Amino acid sequence: MSTDTDTTVTAQRTEQSAPGARLTVTGAEFGRPGAVVLRGLDLEAASGEILTVVGPSGCGKSTLLRTLAGLLPALAGQVAQDGRPVTGPGADRALIFQEDALLPWRTARANVELPLAIRGLGRPERRARAEQWLERVGLAGLERQLPHRLSGGQRQRVQLARALAGQPRAVLMDEPFGALDAQTRAGMQQLLVEALAGSGATVVFVTHDVDEALFLGDRVALLGAGGLAGVRTVPSPRDRGARDDPATVALRHDILESLSPRTS
Ligand SMILES: Nc1ncnc2c1ncn2[C@@H]1O[C@H](COP(=O)(O)OP(=O)(O)OP(=O)(O)O)[C@@H](O)[C@H]1O
Ligand SMILES: [Mg+2]
Repeated sequence: MSTDTDTTVTAQRTEQSAPGARLTVTGAEFGRPGAVVLRGLDLEAASGEILTVVGPSGCGKSTLLRTLAGLLPALAGQVAQDGRPVTGPGADRALIFQEDALLPWRTARANVELPLAIRGLGRPERRARAEQWLERVGLAGLERQLPHRLSGGQRQRVQLARALAGQPRAVLMDEPFGALDAQTRAGMQQLLVEALAGSGATVVFVTHDVDEALFLGDRVALLGAGGLAGVRTVPSPRDRGARDDPATVALRHDILESLSPRTS
């Protein structure tokens, strides 16, 4: 397995900014006491890479993400950011969930401003930064709308703007585009790639969709019942033109095979 591609992409993405966080999981056991979901998990998201995570429903993808976020303690083993144990949520790790997590009584702009306000940024600066990010995700002119006046795709854009406005070193995404139609979803994937460009942030992106995992990821982690079934390097990350390349087709087949329930 070659990692040359990963190294090149990582270097390009981190050139202009602070390095992304290195997230490591070592011999970890995840879940709730009495209901262990994942055991003996060893996994690393390298600084600046996009690691996509696929696996069957209920295998523990969201549990993994919540543990990386520091919302759920590991039952055993270690979860670390740049070698330091993760003991709780941190402002430098942003989370984007599938479910709409916007505050319904705040405008799009006020939602994006909120984490900046919590960090103590003054009003003019946070307003300017929120407007800049809303423009970047294609929502210029909709800053004053309340979430219920926005479409599902637009609300996901606000979530993305809110997550990235805080200049996180890691972004943890749990099926963020799962509820969107195929065309909006492809648009959001492209937007995410563009929004991340130059940020250097490390991304862990959970998805049910193997094509999404292969488009966005530098590597794909395959979770199975009870643990990690493997990690694969994507031959041509973020290149739609490579969708039908023999190497991509072979990897898609390999991933689908490893995800399909064993019949014998
Ligand atoms: N709050 C909770 N309390 C107890 N058990 C939970 C809780 N949340 C999830 N679980 C259990 O942990 C296991 C893994 O759940 P998790 O949400 O991580 O799966 P997932 O891979 O994200 O699934 P999906 O693809 O359906 O989102 C499941 O068996 C689930 O029932
Ligand atoms: Mg889940």
